[in-house]
Amino acid sequence: MKFIDSILKEGRTFYPSHEFSRRAHIKNFQEYSRLYKKSVENPEAFWAEKAKQLDWFRKWDIVLRNDMGFFKWFEGGYLNVCHNCVDRIVKSGKGKKAALIWEPESGEHKTYTYEELLKEVCRLANVLRKLGIKKGDVVEIYLPMIPELPIAMLACARIGAIHSVVFAGFSSDALKDRIQDSSAVLLITADGSFRNGKVFPLKDNADAALKECPSIKNVIVAKRANNGISMSDGRDFWWHELVNDAEDFCGAESLHSEESLFILYTSGTTGKPKGILHTQAGYLLFAYQTFKWVFDIRDNDIYFCTADIGWITGHSYIVYGPLSNGATIVMYEGSPTFPNPDRFWRIIEKHKATIFYTAPTAIRALAKEGDEWPNKCNLSSLRLLGTVGEPINPEAWMWYHEMIGKKRCPIVDTWWQTETGGILISPLPGATPLKPGSAAKPFFGIVADVLREDGSKAGINEGGYLVIKTPWPGMLRTIWNNPEKYKSTYFEKFGVYLTGDSARIDEEGYFWIMGRIDDVIKVAGHRIGSAEVESSLVSHRAVAEAAIVPYPHDIKGQAIYAFVVLKKGFEKSDGLREELRNHVSKTVGPIAKPDKLQFADDLPKTRSGKIMRRILKAVAEGSRDYGNIMTLADPGIVEILAKDRI
Ligand code: PRX
Repeated sequence: MKFIDSILKEGRTFYPSHEFSRRAHIKNFQEYSRLYKKSVENPEAFWAEKAKQLDWFRKWDIVLRNDMGFFKWFEGGYLNVCHNCVDRIVKSGKGKKAALIWEPESGEHKTYTYEELLKEVCRLANVLRKLGIKKGDVVEIYLPMIPELPIAMLACARIGAIHSVVFAGFSSDALKDRIQDSSAVLLITADGSFRNGKVFPLKDNADAALKECPSIKNVIVAKRANNGISMSDGRDFWWHELVNDAEDFCGAESLHSEESLFILYTSGTTGKPKGILHTQAGYLLFAYQTFKWVFDIRDNDIYFCTADIGWITGHSYIVYGPLSNGATIVMYEGSPTFPNPDRFWRIIEKHKATIFYTAPTAIRALAKEGDEWPNKCNLSSLRLLGTVGEPINPEAWMWYHEMIGKKRCPIVDTWWQTETGGILISPLPGATPLKPGSAAKPFFGIVADVLREDGSKAGINEGGYLVIKTPWPGMLRTIWNNPEKYKSTYFEKFGVYLTGDSARIDEEGYFWIMGRIDDVIKVAGHRIGSAEVESSLVSHRAVAEAAIVPYPHDIKGQAIYAFVVLKKGFEKSDGLREELRNHVSKTVGPIAKPDKLQFADDLPKTRSGKIMRRILKAVAEGSRDYGNIMTLADPGIVEILAKDRI
């Protein structure tokens, strides 16, 4: 019996334009295939060749070593990640190039050139050293999307401190748990942050957490919102006062390739967050190379990524990947709908962004607001679009392609995880024909596959476990404080890296992510991935977003319960409910027809935008056992959903 049945039928293909391909780093599919083959025949040679593009203080002795299941890359080599992201770019003559264009919610943007960035980073690095921070110390960073955030990360990297960024929208409890787990000695935060024009009391939250965090000796506070805060004498210092007295240059520490660079706790839709550890050289090289080729970066690009730096996307593709490529980054402080739902499109217009990278959840939320918002903006500067974080439903892909890319821009649907450090499966924009909803092909050096429960290879279009069969430089090295969990979570089941996602590979070798394995539903003997049924619902013109979960059914075992958010201008009605159920039946087949369909105004999501199906499952079952809902972006919606349950 097949492990997961594939029911999605998607036959459209889009080819890169001749113009795009001609100028791209990887120019056609043959070139990709040839290079890919070479890269997986000898990944060590491939990565060693690429690693020469970085500045090393000492060259490595050995490219890859398997140390009892813990993988080490470039051992014996010494470098500095901050030096490679800033000094190296200044040295190459790009000191006057814009590194960071910061767009605050209020709109008066500020630009930092690479030279200016170097100075700010050095000053803070000197401050950190003066406060006694040494190589290997953990620095907790709880900052909103302000320039101080990447500056703080780079300053840590410069002196060999390990940064652990906590998303600034998290509560004091979440901050406390992470500080306690990482034993951080210093906290960098801000007085407050702006979201939808309102001030969020960041320092108050931090103070509440710190009551139970004795490991923290000092706090550096960046001034952003000017909200009145209390400063604890001898413990807390203002960022601007400290850097005022600091020298403009600070030497970069020479660090072994496998020294720790950062800990980042997974956003996690289930269970306790895990502290994912990334190290120096392999992570940097992987972020550098994937950014260069997946985003096909050129010197005059203006790259806008909407992720928060509190997530891995921000670490790898706002900070380390783009900077090590000498790119110009647009970083936005606030909400996508402030003051109107065209803010992203306005930012693209204002800064003439050429590359735009966002999440399917944002695309669906903005599509829901109507076409008039993007239509009022000049988006002609764009040449490439990207998505990350969830499966993108083919219809959301089409909207993105037509309304934002104006049918000109390739879309790179990039599949990866906090654990993978960088993109593992994605089209290359000048080379790969695109299929809406498919993340296409593995990146160079990546051996991805789909396995059945018994570990055998799944057939064509047969859904199963997505695994990565060989190590890659950007992979996590361990779970902080929990090496046993690293082994059991990722390697125990098949002996190769288990992603936790379900996927299928089509007849042309394209990967289709079907959702998390935990979200697979078993209906009347069929196993169905959440993404496919949701994509069918989203393909209806009235639907903005959808999530499906199982609920117990006497005859079928499990049946499908759908939650549906409508687009603006559509009314909830019994007629529409029937129409949507039938639409699924018609487009993917009767087995996938939801038995129940509830209209909702919003879905429960993690703060990084992922739908929490675990909570919807409890709602559908009529259980009140939701587990921890405090990590939700809006915990209030759970009760509303439960009240409207059908
Ligand atoms: O389920 C996959 C989904 O996001 C998970 C990783 O989440 P996180 O560690 O928070 O990192 C998000 C940013 C890289 C994956 O296991 N996911 C991510 N990208 C895609 C995706 N699912 C489908 N298509 C994608 N492009």
